[in-house]
Amino acid sequence: MNSFAPPAPFDLTGYLDNHRRVIDQALEKIIISHFAETRLCHAMKYSLMASGKRLRPILCMAAAETVGEINPQVIAAACAIEMIHTYSLIHDDLPAMDNDALRRGKPTCHVQFDEATAVLAGDALLTFAFEIFASASVSPENAGIMLQVIRNVSTAAGHKGMIEGQMQDIAAEGIDMTLDALKTMHALKTGALIEASVASGALLAGGSESEIRQLEIYARDIGLAFQVVDDILNVEGDAGEMGKATGTDASRGKSTYPALLGLSQSKQFAAELINNALHALDIFGIKSTSLKALANYVIERKR
Ligand code: IPE
Ligand code: IPE
Ligand code: MG
Ligand code: MG
Repeated sequence: MNSFAPPAPFDLTGYLDNHRRVIDQALEKIIISHFAETRLCHAMKYSLMASGKRLRPILCMAAAETVGEINPQVIAAACAIEMIHTYSLIHDDLPAMDNDALRRGKPTCHVQFDEATAVLAGDALLTFAFEIFASASVSPENAGIMLQVIRNVSTAAGHKGMIEGQMQDIAAEGIDMTLDALKTMHALKTGALIEASVASGALLAGGSESEIRQLEIYARDIGLAFQVVDDILNVEGDAGEMGKATGTDASRGKSTYPALLGLSQSKQFAAELINNALHALDIFGIKSTSLKALANYVIERKR
């Protein structure tokens, strides 16, 4: 079977639903035991439990399944990563950044609450994520692996990853970036956390160094493709279906693939990235069926 063949009959919708449910239940459990009835916690919960796709936690779980199996540490990491992602969305939507009013089908955090509360809810979700990582029960022999996961995720989310990508995105408004600069910006602002999600699941499920290397290639390519598709959907997607506004990149003079290459070349680029990602999974054979289906989902998604 070549890696371009569609995965064997695979119920992607069922897979996404089941895994999303696992994450939503794990997040609910964390909220029940840690959140107080305060304005801050209400704002954190409001954004965290809105209808996100949960792609990063699902990738974390699928990577674990590819090299071993899902265990409680994988679920803890998946939840922590979703908190970091949610915080990034809350801050991304702020008036000082993208100034968006709709997210996950609901008013953005600062619209529903107020700007100060949204800043603080984001801060608190980011900080709490590391409490969740550090509270996951690990055996002494696996403590080093958890530390490696925390290091990977913090690097990916910080000034060497997502935040630098966000900085470059804001700085490039109204400026035509080169294709290389755009690629770097996308890889940082979106790719890094997606890569860390996959690597975390694989590491915590006992993946070997060579397995992790292949998975990182896969994740780097789907991570970049994910942001290219986000930019394409901002042009031609349905705002109702996506739960966020469209047309906003152009109106803000954002540097995007569609702006630089046009829609059809952008789609071709995303498809090439996905093909590369699928190739990287060859060594796993049938065990990577879910990751292959998720790669296809990244470019076929409508939201
Ligand atoms: C949106 O991410 C922001 C980007 C990094 C492109 P998602 O499309 O994964 O958003 P949710 O989690 O489903 O809301
Ligand atoms: C969001 O990127 C990236 C992060 C939050 C790190 P965008 O600004 O392009 O994504 P949307 O379109 O608002 O979801
Ligand atoms: Mg943005
Ligand atoms: Mg935005």
